Amino acid sequence: MLKSHSCGELRKEHTGQVVTLAGWVHRRRDHGGLIFIDLRDREGIVQVVFNPEVSKTAHELANDLRNEYVIKATGEVAQRPPGTENRKLPSGEIEVIASDLEILNTSKTPPFYINEDVEVDENLCLKYRYLHLRRPRMKDNILLRHRVEKFMRDFLDAKGFVEIETPILFKSTPEGARDYLVPSRIHPGKFYALPQSPQQLKQLLMVAGFEKYYQIARCFRDEDSRADRQPEFTQLDLEMSFVDEEDILKLLEELFTSLVETVKPEMRLVKPFPRFSYAESMERYGTDKPDIRFGLEIRDLSAIVASSEFAVFRAAIQGSGKVKGICLPGCAGYSHKQLEELTELARANGAKGLITLALPLGGYTSLEQLTLDKVKSVAAKYLTIEQVKEMVRKFEAKPGDLMLIVAGEPKMVDKVLDELRREMGRRLNLIDLNLLAFVFVVGYPLLEWNDEAGLWEPMHHPFTSPCEEDIPLLDTDPSKVRARHYDIVCNGYELSSGSIRIHTRQLQEKIFHLLGYSSEEIEERFGHLLEALDFGAPPHGGIAPGIDRVVMLLAGGENIREVIAFPKNQGAIDVMSGAPSSVSEAQLDELHLKLKDEGIIQT
Ligand code: AMO
Repeated sequence: MLKSHSCGELRKEHTGQVVTLAGWVHRRRDHGGLIFIDLRDREGIVQVVFNPEVSKTAHELANDLRNEYVIKATGEVAQRPPGTENRKLPSGEIEVIASDLEILNTSKTPPFYINEDVEVDENLCLKYRYLHLRRPRMKDNILLRHRVEKFMRDFLDAKGFVEIETPILFKSTPEGARDYLVPSRIHPGKFYALPQSPQQLKQLLMVAGFEKYYQIARCFRDEDSRADRQPEFTQLDLEMSFVDEEDILKLLEELFTSLVETVKPEMRLVKPFPRFSYAESMERYGTDKPDIRFGLEIRDLSAIVASSEFAVFRAAIQGSGKVKGICLPGCAGYSHKQLEELTELARANGAKGLITLALPLGGYTSLEQLTLDKVKSVAAKYLTIEQVKEMVRKFEAKPGDLMLIVAGEPKMVDKVLDELRREMGRRLNLIDLNLLAFVFVVGYPLLEWNDEAGLWEPMHHPFTSPCEEDIPLLDTDPSKVRARHYDIVCNGYELSSGSIRIHTRQLQEKIFHLLGYSSEEIEERFGHLLEALDFGAPPHGGIAPGIDRVVMLLAGGENIREVIAFPKNQGAIDVMSGAPSSVSEAQLDELHLKLKDEGIIQT
């Protein structure tokens, strides 16, 4: 090694030792003859002092140093003079008095600051990702990810799980997104699909008898990128035989609890993880990804306003819609501009408008004294005071509170209120940023009706087992069939989905048929899996936490790109390398492909 110690490991205990360090110039300061370098390596930063009285040559060379030069320095560790300690730096009590310096490499001026965490255009960060990753915060995210993955491996190994790799060149495995396809050179006109998840393969490993499998698996989905979505991402994919739902949930609760306690002990958890049914989560939060770190729960006001004179409410209810709302504590004084902003947010999510109802801050001490003229709302004149009081009771609203009410088609109402609730939770500072509020969501329906396609679709994937007692409903009322599915949500993000799987051919075929696949399609797409189920497939189930999202939450971030070494940008482009990029005619020829103006045609 070119160095004897890491910059970040040096402490008071090293005083008097002669050390050799190697790293990058993080910052350089020239102070009346002395040159101070903050030297950075993976483990942290230490101050190196160049004093002409200690070494004239080293000091002269240090004059040439610029940020991000790579250097090797030798010197004695000394306590900093009293009053010059840097409390913000773990090595801030000491410095290294350099006696020797070697410049290992120079550096151009980086296109953005590395020693300051100031915001930079995302594409610039991605183009120079190797420089962005030098920033201490980004480096810490990647090191955190390493610790998370190592913890997961050790935890599952200790529980008897076997890590098994599965192919990347495979066949389409539906998880609800578009596939990335890879053309075959050897088989003209044929394509591999990159796995959206190793779902079928892990089930086949159960048929093979491995009983407990896991893999830190790369998954590929051609879908629009978002803050919590990338075209390629990583799952902790696992599967177990001879288990029921409770076994998996118990394992996952233990895994996440001990993960947080080990890698982020400063963060708090709610234990045991609360459990919501899908219906309850939708009712109280308008989503199956509830952020339970704060209240502002949704209340259904439909029954209260069913007989109201207000056209907006009446139209919604008559058209099988809903009238629901949330109540913001102490926000009755919101300005016109603030209310307009909230209305815009509601509109952007599909609402025609937003009804606000502000309770007076004073003028009444008990609900009996509340009168309509004191309530500020366009809807007030169409409501009775009894209806308003009912709403107040439903929300347990206090004087000075502001109700936000949305009317219309139920899915839209839930979506809008979910957005408003999250936004207001943030704006009102109701969120404890040190809390990781894990939640299990269970009791999902197996299927969803897709009106446009006129088909049943799996709520998750087609391999999920229905609840045993609901199987007869598959023939009579598929909408009522409950799935043996569970989700893990944390702070409003879906972290994992999983289920107990179908393990008999007969039931799996029945589901495929119900989903509208023809017998030929079933054979062509899933013949291998169905055949395997004929050979003594054990009952099995599993789950797959998204590692990027887990690390993002542990890092306190809001975008998974912050915890992926080389992510794609919003447009699915690797800005650094320029992928996806053009290929030569010769390569296309080999693949039996020809470019059309707007794409590719098969030759
Ligand atoms: P699902 O499709 O719900 O389930 O995915 C499981 C978890 O993977 C993460 N995830 C993503 N993370 C980043 N970018 C994406 N594009 C993305 N898509 C999904 C989420 C999600 O909860 N085979 C099943 C699991 C099973 O049933 O065992 C599956 O893939 O955190």
